[in-house]
Amino acid sequence: MDNNKKTRLVVLSGAGISAESGIQTFRGGDGLWDNVPFEEICSPIGWAKSPKRVTEFYNARRAQLAEVKPNEAHLILASMQDDYDVRIITQNVDNLHERAGSKHVLHIHGELTKVRPLDCYTSKDGFSTEYVQDIGYRPVEIGEVGGPNLKQLRPHVVFFGEEVPNLSKAARLVQQADILLIIGTSMQVYPAAGLCNYAQDGCDIYMIDPSETPASAVLGVNHIKNVATEGMKEFRDMLNKMTHTI
Ligand code: OAD
Repeated sequence: MDNNKKTRLVVLSGAGISAESGIQTFRGGDGLWDNVPFEEICSPIGWAKSPKRVTEFYNARRAQLAEVKPNEAHLILASMQDDYDVRIITQNVDNLHERAGSKHVLHIHGELTKVRPLDCYTSKDGFSTEYVQDIGYRPVEIGEVGGPNLKQLRPHVVFFGEEVPNLSKAARLVQQADILLIIGTSMQVYPAAGLCNYAQDGCDIYMIDPSETPASAVLGVNHIKNVATEGMKEFRDMLNKMTHTI
């Protein structure tokens, strides 16, 4: 079926969808930022203090990404493309949605498998991706440079305090959603957490997360209180039943 005629399912995913693949979340007791302060790693100040520490942190995460696989939640979402026009907005820097087969994935916090020279992809060049490089799963070294001015390569990840260049694209997608699914995100990081406010009247909102989040309190949000793999099965079955009874 032509994508224009399918119900548009927009997904806002976070670290929780990849937890069952073996990737640590950021918060919740034993998350990445519970053990290392994010300011030391994921901020311009952290980078200025120690580019080596930041580079090594992301090298380790990139190496881990090579070892893990998409889980059932990523796979179910990809299979739903047969029946729905699925658009994924992810806060995750992993590539598990793509590896599961999802075709429309918008990364709003960057991508682990990419790096860029320090002076490129800024507001000055209109966030041009010209010098963003795909490096796969290999480590980056301090002293490794790129771009027109041969500047140090840094992770292609949005640091706290930096602009989120894909935000307006993401907001437009949410505005066009018939169904919005929020999965595996604590909804604590703005501006990403504010994206659900762009949903139009009549958009059905679902959330899959084993914990309460600020979104669970919002009236009308259908909270499937389960882990991503089980929750995705429930969600898919729920939508199938609704389609059959219309
Ligand atoms: P968090 O670590 O803040 O939240 C993870 C959410 O996943 C929590 O609500 C958990 O309850 C839920 N969760 C845990 N295990 C789960 C499972 N098996 N299935 C489903 N849900 C599960 O992660 P994010 O909300 O993604 O930014 O964090 C947002 C941003 O903060 C990240 O993109 C990252 C971080 O700093 C950058 O790196 C720029």
